[in-house]
Amino acid sequence: MVSKGTATLNFSNGHPPVELPIYSGSVGPDVVDIRALGGKAGMFTYDPGFMSTASCSSTITYIDGDKGVLLYRGYPIEQLAQQCDFLEVCYLLLNGELPNAPQKQQFDDTVKRHTMLHEQLVRFYSGFRRDAHPMAVMVGVVGALSAFYHEAMDISDARHREVSAFRLIAKLPTITAMAYKYNQGQPFMYPRNSLNYVENFMHMMFATPCEEYRPNPVLVRALDRILILHADHEQNASTSTVRLAGSSGANPFACISAGIACLWGPAHGGANEACLKMLEEIGDVSRIGQYIKRAKDKDDSFKLMGFGHRVYKNFDPRAKLMRETCHGVLNELGLKDDRLFKLAVELEKIALEDDYFISKKLYPNVDFYSGLIYQAMGFPVAMFPVLFAIPRTSGWLAQWQEMRADAEQKHRLRQAGRGPDGEAQITEDPDHDAPDVRELLPLRKQRVLHRGLV
Ligand code: ACO
Repeated sequence: MVSKGTATLNFSNGHPPVELPIYSGSVGPDVVDIRALGGKAGMFTYDPGFMSTASCSSTITYIDGDKGVLLYRGYPIEQLAQQCDFLEVCYLLLNGELPNAPQKQQFDDTVKRHTMLHEQLVRFYSGFRRDAHPMAVMVGVVGALSAFYHEAMDISDARHREVSAFRLIAKLPTITAMAYKYNQGQPFMYPRNSLNYVENFMHMMFATPCEEYRPNPVLVRALDRILILHADHEQNASTSTVRLAGSSGANPFACISAGIACLWGPAHGGANEACLKMLEEIGDVSRIGQYIKRAKDKDDSFKLMGFGHRVYKNFDPRAKLMRETCHGVLNELGLKDDRLFKLAVELEKIALEDDYFISKKLYPNVDFYSGLIYQAMGFPVAMFPVLFAIPRTSGWLAQWQEMRADAEQKHRLRQAGRGPDGEAQITEDPDHDAPDVRELLPLRKQRVLHRGLV
């Protein structure tokens, strides 16, 4: 980053001003480097939720929320979604550049060589309840991979990091499909390496040993594109989780498992399910007006699911591609007259013409159409967050690799202290002569545990 002058922080408590450097990245807003603040002023910054804090510098993904731009390694998401396949995008995220033809061939072949699970790991599935949520299975099985690859888990070794990344990218679809098959009571379908990444995933999900299964190429292309759209998205909650877990030196399987656990939360990977439920609840085009009215009512907690985004305040570039993909998939499957699809199209149209949504810059987000697509393809709702975890694994791995290579990355967050009764902690020096520690209570909020020997 390039130095761009300093910022002066003035204090009202008599502390002398502190000069802090300003840096300019190659994209995005400038940053004030506050690392020296603790040492110079004995104070921390207070930024709950890190809404104003850049936790790292990164070259992987860039979002300009006002302009509706999403770049992976500098390439616009639209170009990647239209001209690349998912494994090329994985290569890009991990290596910083798109592969040439031989590099692509080698990358695809290597992924294929890692698609199978260790047979002892396959037996893990029978330990889960049949109705376990697939994300619960994912957290467990992905974490358990670390019990199988001791020989290649030295994270200071670039080759070990690389092979772990291949294993995770290759095995995620297998682990996912097995979670589904186990739930359905169907036999596991082992990977078939004559198929490409998405064809193989669909085969493992939807084929049975009884009959021939040929993945529909339109659906394969659509799913491939959806994987690209979800591959990375800057420092969101699950990506930060992976970086934080990795900062302790934890192995990549444990870190990705932590990312999956975070992604499972309804505020992260669950919005498309919420959107589908909302469409079901609205039920009919004639009831849209009523729900739009509710969404605008300050006293009603109802929000239009699949609308609005914390970062995109113009439009979500992924939503446009998702909308196009949804039309293509439903057309292919002869579901253009599907009740929920027609409802979604009408709802989007009405909301986009409504002053409330226009003035608050609320546009459909990536989740507005994804649930409809997944449902049309035959994925049950519980699988929706898993379909997010598969592609995001490549982004998490790229971020984890970048974090490992960055000498400045050691995560140790601080807190603004509060006493046990919830009041701000008093920080004066508590050294004292008083013999009774109870006299300190108003000062430090220390508590004394009186418990006899038992
Ligand atoms: N429906 C109705 N009103 C909305 C909606 C919505 N979907 N989204 C925001 N608003 C309103 C808010 O009530 C607020 O109104 P106010 O100014 O009168 O207080 C205003 O728009 C700004 O909203 P914020 O909540 O401040 O916007 P923020 O950027 O913080 O939140 C969020 C973004 C959480 C995504 C929000 O738009 C929302 O809840 N959307 C629905 C859920 C959803 O689709 N989530 C998926 C996001 S995409 C993803 O995570 C992959």
